[in-house]
Amino acid sequence: MTIQRTFSILKPDATRRNLTGTINAKIESANLRIIAQKRLKLSLAQAQAFYTVHAERAFFGELCQFMTSGPVVAQVLEGENAVANYRDIMGATNPANAAEGTIRREFAESIEANSVHGSDSPENAAKEISFFFSDLEIVG
Ligand code: CMP
Repeated sequence: MTIQRTFSILKPDATRRNLTGTINAKIESANLRIIAQKRLKLSLAQAQAFYTVHAERAFFGELCQFMTSGPVVAQVLEGENAVANYRDIMGATNPANAAEGTIRREFAESIEANSVHGSDSPENAAKEISFFFSDLEIVG
């Protein structure tokens, strides 16, 4: 059994539609514990720094504009195989390809406004968690 942490963002399309609690219920139903959470409005510089791995992609500018278009909820999730588990319940990046019952299939508006972000590896989870949270803010 591997207890892991992963990083999650509920994106502006989700907060705009008041879906924080609904998505959190899905997270908790999947045996992931929300051990840190804060709602914030990203600056453009923060969005660009967070998504720096995508800096060369054609969608980078629009992605950063979208991520600063409204509040987001940043979270640390903990549980067994949290990285893979959260990616499973999020569904594919493009909601058109996301499996039935996943968060993105149910709620995403488009590939960009796809409601949630989750880390793709334990290494990136550690980096993304420390981008947003200090150790004092994480209560496991
Ligand atoms: P996320 O998991 O937050 O990581 C990068 C984001 O870029 C991704 O989810 C999508 O919301 C967004 N994005 C926008 N366009 C594309 C695209 N063509 N391919 C992949 N990701 C995209």
